[in-house]
Amino acid sequence: MSASIDQAARLRELVRGQRVESSEQLQPPTRIVVVTSGKGGVGKTNVTVNLALILAQRGCKVVLFDADLGMANVDVLLNLSPPFTIADVIAGRRQLAEIILPVTDNLEVVPGGSGIAQLASLERAVLDQTVAKLAELENRADFLLVDTGAGISPNVLGFVLAAPEVIVVTTPEPTAIVDAYGIIKAVDGKNPGAQVWLLVNMVESESEARAVFSKLASIIARFLAVRIRLLGWIEKDGNVGRSVLQQKPFVRAYPYSLATRRIHLLAGALLAQQADPEPKVVGTGFFARLGKALFR
Ligand SMILES: Nc1ncnc2c1ncn2[C@@H]1O[C@H](COP(=O)(O)OP(=O)(O)OP(=O)(O)O)[C@@H](O)[C@H]1O
Ligand SMILES: [Mg+2]
Repeated sequence: MSASIDQAARLRELVRGQRVESSEQLQPPTRIVVVTSGKGGVGKTNVTVNLALILAQRGCKVVLFDADLGMANVDVLLNLSPPFTIADVIAGRRQLAEIILPVTDNLEVVPGGSGIAQLASLERAVLDQTVAKLAELENRADFLLVDTGAGISPNVLGFVLAAPEVIVVTTPEPTAIVDAYGIIKAVDGKNPGAQVWLLVNMVESESEARAVFSKLASIIARFLAVRIRLLGWIEKDGNVGRSVLQQKPFVRAYPYSLATRRIHLLAGALLAQQADPEPKVVGTGFFARLGKALFR
């Protein structure tokens, strides 16, 4: 082989190598989105379950992590009876893969169960082991959606402080708005890279939703460094309650309802925002950060 052919072959190899590397870099990372609220009962679980279904329907692979300790949790809304939960993984009785429930082609649910309450009080070594196991979920899908309980209890806060993206759900009620400010204030300074979205649920109109957003955004701009963006809103819609009673997500039970239309718009708004290729919360993965936040 002449020197120039040899050089050309090496160049091609190099270019091929670079192509492989750059296509790997183009692989979009898993979007990890934690859904939370200050006040309870504002619609987090309904939003998360229905959003997960629509994202999955649009071809995204979605893992829904149920970190809610409330009554109307993910398995109730999806009419699932999970035989095992995170509590079984913590106790070493089950592998993570054994507790994951397939719901549709693109949607899987990880039932938290009583394991979520345990997380905040585990011994350091067991917590480290548990978050290392959960880290497998970080590259499993396009979206990892986490439904949390309300308020600033240690385990909810752990998820919120570890999250690259947080959706804060509020209603137009003054108490819910004040509590939403409380959770956003908790993010401020402690999770500076996070993208914080506001979702206003149970509104009468778009203008009411925008007024709630403006009010919160202007107080936040005065007192906090964190910036929020309006993800969208959902009107008060009787079909939501009806679907809960039927234990069917409303996007399935009432595909032509206003609430379903809004979920499509919320999914579109999330998809329109590309995941940050270099998340500002660097160094460790989501679950490792969760472990650190829980052990403070
Ligand atoms: N857009 C809506 N219109 C009418 N009712 C709604 C709407 N969104 C939620 N609800 C109702 O609000 C109640 C609470 O919803 P959900 O359980 O999703 O709230 P949550 O924030 O997850 O509660 P928790 O804090 O207990 O986890 C449900 O009974 C549901 O039917
Ligand atoms: Mg809930």
